[in-house]
Amino acid sequence: MIIRSRIVGCGAYLPERVVTNAEMARMVDTTDEWIVERTGIRQRHIAAEGENTSDLAFAAAERALAAAGVKGSDVDLLVLGTATPDNTFPATAVKVQARLGMTGGAAFDLQAVCSGFVYGMAVADNFIRAGQVRTAVVIGAETFSRLLDWTDRNTCVLFGDGAGAVVLRADSGEGTNRDVGILSTHLHSDGRHHDLLHTKGGPSSTRGIGAIHMQGKEVFRHAVVNLARVANEALEANGLTVTDIDWLVPHQANLRILDGTAHKLNIPSERIVVTVQRHANTSAASVPLALAEAVGDGRIRPGHLVMLEAMGGGFTWGACLARM
Ligand code: COA
Repeated sequence: MIIRSRIVGCGAYLPERVVTNAEMARMVDTTDEWIVERTGIRQRHIAAEGENTSDLAFAAAERALAAAGVKGSDVDLLVLGTATPDNTFPATAVKVQARLGMTGGAAFDLQAVCSGFVYGMAVADNFIRAGQVRTAVVIGAETFSRLLDWTDRNTCVLFGDGAGAVVLRADSGEGTNRDVGILSTHLHSDGRHHDLLHTKGGPSSTRGIGAIHMQGKEVFRHAVVNLARVANEALEANGLTVTDIDWLVPHQANLRILDGTAHKLNIPSERIVVTVQRHANTSAASVPLALAEAVGDGRIRPGHLVMLEAMGGGFTWGACLARM
């Protein structure tokens, strides 16, 4: 008997306010043409004053639970990938836990920046495979707008706010691991690259949160190599090839990173879910937002093989291969 985790519901939430590139050009020395040409981004959603990561996370999780037909009280693990928690402590996840009516189990935040959701999927999947958990909610939620230096054109045009969530359920049965659910997850990190993408701040070092600093070109180079490599690692682990993938749902950082990874993997663009034009980089939220959108509009259907992958500060990166 094999226990697998099935994705039984997806949900997403985007703040109401949309900020276009034209608006960005009124704040910093940039143009719509520059942003579109270098990143593909045309707009981003920005959380309202007083609207926090927990609010975004709760809205996405509530929608995922509704899509799955699961009650909050039935959830026994909640993992929230975020680099922008409401407070230094306690975890934003416990706020969301309470609002969902989840009275038992465990809830915690997971910090892997843009890889937070994929890391969360790996954690929840392993709890389910170990038989410790039957129903898990994995959320990626961020209010990166709060971390941005709105006078730094190098970074402020790249990010947005949002949240996405999935409900995972244990499914046990005979058969091979290929039939249904999460086939495997693959996580990596390499702390030697800490300074290429980081905030100069934090409760222990400076007591402030600090703004984002990034060496864009270096990040770009590592992202393309690492994302293609981890996707191949996931395929090889399952005896599959790129032609078996129905949909690639990558982290939405930059259209040129998506194109570069697709080229390296040799996967046609028609099989890639792309939301970066409308959402910008929402860090841990980007993969579940894209997944929820493609499930919601019927592109991703039951039986499809889906590759989720992400890369973020640390560096951290990872992939999750799932049969829907
Ligand atoms: N508008 C106009 N000009 C801008 C700008 C903006 N918003 N941001 C930067 N520039 C300028 C810089 O000041 C610099 O000018 P200079 O050459 O006079 O000093 C120039 O554009 C930078 O050009 P370059 O470094 O060649 O740009 P690029 O093609 O590398 O694009 C990024 C920059 C940030 C878009 C790109 O490196 C990138 O996307 N990197 C990955 C970032 C990422 O995805 N991070 C998150 C990963 S999880």
